[in-house]
Amino acid sequence: MCGIVGYKGKQQPKDFLLEGLKNLEYRGYDSSGIALKNDDEIQIIRSVGKISSLEEKVNNENLINCSMGIAHTRWATHGIPSEENAHPHRVGNVTLVHNGIIENASELKEELLKENVVFNSETDTEVACAIINKYYEGNAVEAINRAIKVLKGSYAFCIFFEDSDKLYAVRKDSPLIIGYGEEEVYVASDIAAIISYTNKYSLIEENEIVEIGDRVTVTLDGNVVNKEVLTATISADSKDKCGYEHYMLKEIMEEPLVLEKTLKPYIDNLDKLPDLTEYEEIHIVACGSAMYAGMIGKTLIEENTNLRVTVEVASEYRYKKVIYDRKTLVILISQSGETADTIAAMRKAKMAGIETLAIVNVVGSTIARESGNQLFIEAGPEIAVATTKAYMLQVAMLSLLAYKAALSSGLVNDSVMNEIKIVPRMVREILDRRDDYLEIAKSIYERDDIFFIGRKIDYAVSMEGSLKLKEVSYIHSEAYQAGELKHGTISLVDDGTPVISIITDKDIKEKTISNVQEVKARGAKCIIISNEEITGYDHLIQVPKMSDFFQPLVVVPCLQLIAYEVAKLRGCDIDKPKNLAKSVTVE
Ligand code: G6P
Repeated sequence: MCGIVGYKGKQQPKDFLLEGLKNLEYRGYDSSGIALKNDDEIQIIRSVGKISSLEEKVNNENLINCSMGIAHTRWATHGIPSEENAHPHRVGNVTLVHNGIIENASELKEELLKENVVFNSETDTEVACAIINKYYEGNAVEAINRAIKVLKGSYAFCIFFEDSDKLYAVRKDSPLIIGYGEEEVYVASDIAAIISYTNKYSLIEENEIVEIGDRVTVTLDGNVVNKEVLTATISADSKDKCGYEHYMLKEIMEEPLVLEKTLKPYIDNLDKLPDLTEYEEIHIVACGSAMYAGMIGKTLIEENTNLRVTVEVASEYRYKKVIYDRKTLVILISQSGETADTIAAMRKAKMAGIETLAIVNVVGSTIARESGNQLFIEAGPEIAVATTKAYMLQVAMLSLLAYKAALSSGLVNDSVMNEIKIVPRMVREILDRRDDYLEIAKSIYERDDIFFIGRKIDYAVSMEGSLKLKEVSYIHSEAYQAGELKHGTISLVDDGTPVISIITDKDIKEKTISNVQEVKARGAKCIIISNEEITGYDHLIQVPKMSDFFQPLVVVPCLQLIAYEVAKLRGCDIDKPKNLAKSVTVE
């Protein structure tokens, strides 16, 4: 969601800026722009739609000779995606790009309008730009410092001033890093944007002001801060599609490998995992697919221990009344570690003195740094907006946590652990059955509605299956507890309506099959995913039978590949579905 890159060095920044933006495309955006600056001129070029259209515009312009620039991909919040609303914005002396939301923008705008400031866009960003300009009297750091005391909300800014040849950056609740090259310095939303240029970087902490001239100076409230220089471990290759047509497919295919990498340390030593039975209550809090991973975790923990577990979407949890009257652990799940609502939920728990555990992919992200305890999944960079491998690893990590809790409770024996070792191989076999998924996709891709049904763990798995399908194919899809469908939604089932049923829980299998019969009787096309042979329906995908803890891990890839094939048949922009953002850094 919104991406920032900035450059100060010796080269014309155009190529770096455009490549940086392309590397951030995965975050989701609907317009983009760049600003270049030399001693005499500032040149701003903006465009709606894909970066290729910005690139075309940039290539058709006579660019100024310069060695400093900033660029941005915008995911619209205040104001429609348009050239006027796209960043960079310029007010007086100040040109900037912004990620985040300025919550008091309308009040500030009213005041500024009284001071005869003219606005050219509907954005909160232009208001922030005007505020910095208002405070600018020749000292940029002072102006930024004063402005951030007035601005409410979240921001990552990369800024330059008309009469200065320095580049500035500051952030709060939105990520930003500084990268160090040979005689050049980069600013970026994340390391993926700059990894082909450098792997040396520093994290910018909240409200530190970065001044990039001949050298980089970082201050917090006027005091100089020495920044640690980190080395990124991701490689530039991880951004390549490696011959796959889409990142989504590549990332699904990586699942066996990343599962092996993530699970290995814990297979070797389960003591590395926290013991959930030390708590009386577990709250799992997350957004989107991460929340659905949490639903699987909840089911596995509750079914196999005596623990109470709740799962909440972070945007609700952060504002609702939560009673912490038992020894509680709050588990935050986030691929990016930067989701605004999940960060707020974590801070709420911490404020109440509650222990927090993060399941997170990005080392150095806000959630990784601020949570009390962390379990890192080893997904590597995930470029496709719709998460696949990271979700898979979140589920795997929760399965291990549930298993360890069950062991501690004495409700399971340790023989199950041997099974986890074969999970990556089983997943690889499931992934190899591409023809089966394509065949199913061909039979459903032209439909307007698709339903997923399941009970207990199978329902938890089906929720993400349904979300994945709707995200990438734009087909309306819903997941239902199999027994609930007939209380209303079955009225939408008619001749040929696809119903994908997940049936792996042996205790409840017969009940779900009765529900499949009900939809079959109304003409539904019945697709079954089961660990047993169930005949008499349109399609069956038979997955290996696993212990309860690891069964979801062999169902998830089937659902992901069905979603992928359906989206491909419909000609959708699979890696960048419309309106979606990878990392949702605003509320
Ligand atoms: C966005 C992404 C989803 C993701 C959710 C939570 O909506 O499109 O794929 O599940 O954010 O993101 P997180 O980084 O916190 O896991």
